[in-house]
Amino acid sequence: MKQTVFIIGLGLIGGSLALGLKRNNDVKVIGYDANTHALRTAKRIGVIDEMAVYMKDAAGFADIIIFATPVNETIRLMNELASWKLKEQVIVTDTGSTKNEIMKAAVTLKEQGITFIGGHPMAGSHKSGIEAARAHLFENAYYLLTPFPNESKDNMNRLSSLLGVTKAKVVQVSAEEHDHMTAVVSHFPHLVAASLVHQLAVENEQFPFTKQLAAGGFRDLTRIASSNPIMWRDITLQNRYELSNQLQAWIDEMIKLQNLLLQSDAEDIETYFRTAKKVRDELPINEQGAMFAVYDLYVDVPDYPGVISEITGYLAKDRISITNLRIVETRVDVFGILVISFQTMEDRAKAVECIAKNTTFETYIS
Ligand SMILES: NC(=O)c1ccc[n+]([C@@H]2O[C@H](COP(=O)([O-])OP(=O)(O)OC[C@H]3O[C@@H](n4cnc5c(N)ncnc54)[C@H](O)[C@@H]3O)[C@@H](O)[C@H]2O)c1
Repeated sequence: MKQTVFIIGLGLIGGSLALGLKRNNDVKVIGYDANTHALRTAKRIGVIDEMAVYMKDAAGFADIIIFATPVNETIRLMNELASWKLKEQVIVTDTGSTKNEIMKAAVTLKEQGITFIGGHPMAGSHKSGIEAARAHLFENAYYLLTPFPNESKDNMNRLSSLLGVTKAKVVQVSAEEHDHMTAVVSHFPHLVAASLVHQLAVENEQFPFTKQLAAGGFRDLTRIASSNPIMWRDITLQNRYELSNQLQAWIDEMIKLQNLLLQSDAEDIETYFRTAKKVRDELPINEQGAMFAVYDLYVDVPDYPGVISEITGYLAKDRISITNLRIVETRVDVFGILVISFQTMEDRAKAVECIAKNTTFETYIS
């Protein structure tokens, strides 16, 4: 039987979910976005089957309603939804990066007999908007569900099997566990990235050349500082208590590190880096799980005009698509100067072969 899914918010996540869910021919996706350009684009490029004019009306036809709006907006809309006329068996869910506040807002829905199961697909990008949406975004990524403790197995199975078509790994956790774990691996790194960039900006006032020297390590660490500021304002505010604890732990760690440096104990400092390397090397980085995998390839290229178009030309000829391309102007702590990003590990492996077949340039995976 055909299921109607209504997605509210057609940005990176809502658009990607729509594309992913439409892989199932028995799913019809209706979409709504407050931004009419995003809504029309979603219909024109085939991300959704139908556009909704009024949220309230479209919601009445839906078997599943998914909020893919910024978290504060989701809470506001959930309060509105409480007065809409919905199908009796409807399941309402969301994609927000925080869960405690969302589940608190869902209590009102639950009291009215509306099923709400919190959701968070743990895949994304620093890009936003419908144009960045991709059907494969959730493949191999964890998709965390945070139901109320007494949620029925039937409803959990219905939602999990719908989401299964995106090839995400659906896992159930409590909202509290969710907000604690994501504070550590997702939200707190955004604070660190933003603060490192602020530190560079201050330094740069005195030593304007510093910015030019910002090389691989700095860029890799601060990539997420380019994320949507409004979205991160809302996420960090909703998870502020967990983040404040993380920040305190970080301050303690920094003081420990400062003492290590001032004591000049080479052995202790080496152990510090060695332990961090061991933990980092053992992370499941090639999965799109808690850590967002980036399939970068470093190409050591000589400096002559046209070298970049030459390489991209070889890749295009072998039909290998790239998602990003950047030139690192300095070779400090990176292996090459051209960094090409790919959507999948397979594409990157094909690119290594392709470059080896056509050139003498060395390639590295960091
Ligand atoms: N970007 C990520 O990496 C990521 C990953 C996992 C989960 N999330 C979560 O998914 C949700 C969406 O994030 P995104 O990255 O797709 O953001 P986005 O900015 O790409 O898209 C959000 C969309 O919601 C629309 N919108 C805003 N208010 C609306 C309203 N009142 N009614 C209808 N539409 C409205 C916007 O116009 C926009 O098109 C957020 O809750 C975010 O926390 C994001």
